[in-house]
Amino acid sequence: MSKIVFFILQAVLQLAGSTSLRILKSNVVALDVSDLSSSEVSLHCGEQYEGEQIHWERNERSIPETGNRITVTIDGLRGGNFTCHRADNRDLLNYTLVLVHPVNFPKGVLTQSTHKEFVSCFARNYNGQFHCSWKWHQERKERAVVYFAAIRNSSLINCTLDSNISGLTCMDEDYCPYSEEPRSIYLTLFVRNMYRLEEHQRTFIIRDIVQPDKVNITKFHDDVFEWRPPGTWSFPCSFFSLSYEVKVVPNSHSCDYTGNRVEKMETTENHYKVNIKKPYTFCVRAQDAFTKTRWSDWSHHHIRKHQHTSEQ
Ligand SMILES: *[C@@H]1O[C@H](CO)[C@@H](O)[C@H](O)[C@H]1NC(C)=O
Ligand SMILES: *[C@@H]1O[C@H](CO)[C@@H](O)[C@H](O)[C@H]1NC(C)=O
Ligand SMILES: *[C@@H]1O[C@H](CO)[C@@H](O)[C@H](O)[C@H]1NC(C)=O
Ligand SMILES: *[C@@H]1O[C@H](CO)[C@@H](O)[C@H](O)[C@H]1NC(C)=O
Ligand SMILES: *[C@@H]1O[C@H](CO)[C@@H](O)[C@H](O)[C@H]1NC(C)=O
Ligand SMILES: *[C@@H]1O[C@H](CO)[C@@H](O)[C@H](O)[C@H]1NC(C)=O
Repeated sequence: MSKIVFFILQAVLQLAGSTSLRILKSNVVALDVSDLSSSEVSLHCGEQYEGEQIHWERNERSIPETGNRITVTIDGLRGGNFTCHRADNRDLLNYTLVLVHPVNFPKGVLTQSTHKEFVSCFARNYNGQFHCSWKWHQERKERAVVYFAAIRNSSLINCTLDSNISGLTCMDEDYCPYSEEPRSIYLTLFVRNMYRLEEHQRTFIIRDIVQPDKVNITKFHDDVFEWRPPGTWSFPCSFFSLSYEVKVVPNSHSCDYTGNRVEKMETTENHYKVNIKKPYTFCVRAQDAFTKTRWSDWSHHHIRKHQHTSEQ
């Protein structure tokens, strides 16, 4: 399977006497480097410009090389946008964005999440939609997403880049929540800062990334609580059953509190009665009852006794 992704992305251009370039998409190539020395790279303006007088610019500055095919030197991570122009009137003919991919270097365009992942994916139910997100390194201000693809069983899954370029929203139309999920989703993401390219990959199945949204606490009266599955959870709930964790913490501590006098239990019921006379916080969260992969965030409700405040 990874071979297929490889095949799609890595149409390798072997150019005479120079370093190999990978075509990432039209007009964008990657130069894989294992150190920061310099490399010679061959560029071509276009078949139809054979025999014409061609002038080149690198990042909008004229360079001495001329002609349809030129060889340029790439030093370290200093790639560039190479544009070719008609020599007489300087009309833009074509361009090649050369990005440098330092293969053995620590990644630094994106930063790792608390779970040591550069790209985190989750699904809030089994309808085939999932979301992947990432965090840019704070100092990388010239950031861009170069290319992305999510593939399952050789088919491209429909993904859209979020407008803040920090996530992808994908919908696997062929996904069937009632059957086995024998093939994984392969996600490839290419990002860059200036001309430095970074490649990220994730492999997963929907079942392993399902995390329900927060539980909806619908009723609380005389220390009895009732809740419902999150509105976004898959239906029928009898098929996609949830199990809940209930936690009662003293005073107005947060749900993550782990000190003394914490009451905790797992249940498949949708109600709970608290037997505490002092102020407390009632917390509840959900997970898929069968796969038990990820807990939802907590929903909670503070009970001050004689005075109620609510927050879900
Ligand atoms: C422009 O250059 C790209 C390489 O960056 C090449 O693949 C493409 O064929 C060229 N376009 C034309 C119209 O020649
Ligand atoms: C590279 O130059 C082309 C042609 O001017 C332009 O359309 C493209 O946006 C530039 N890309 C970058 C990353 O600067
Ligand atoms: C994978 O794709 C092939 C060809 O499109 C199809 O016949 C097969 O049923 C698919 N397999 C799965 C597990 O979806
Ligand atoms: C992909 O998803 C977008 C947004 O949901 C939608 O507008 C578009 O029609 C979908 N494209 C395909 C080919 O399904
Ligand atoms: C980017 O947008 C998505 C969807 O609108 C949102 O969920 C996410 O929190 C945003 N990320 C950042 C870093 O702002
Ligand atoms: C919780 O359930 C109530 C009553 O059905 C509904 O009005 C509300 O929108 C739900 N809230 C969430 C966050 O799903």
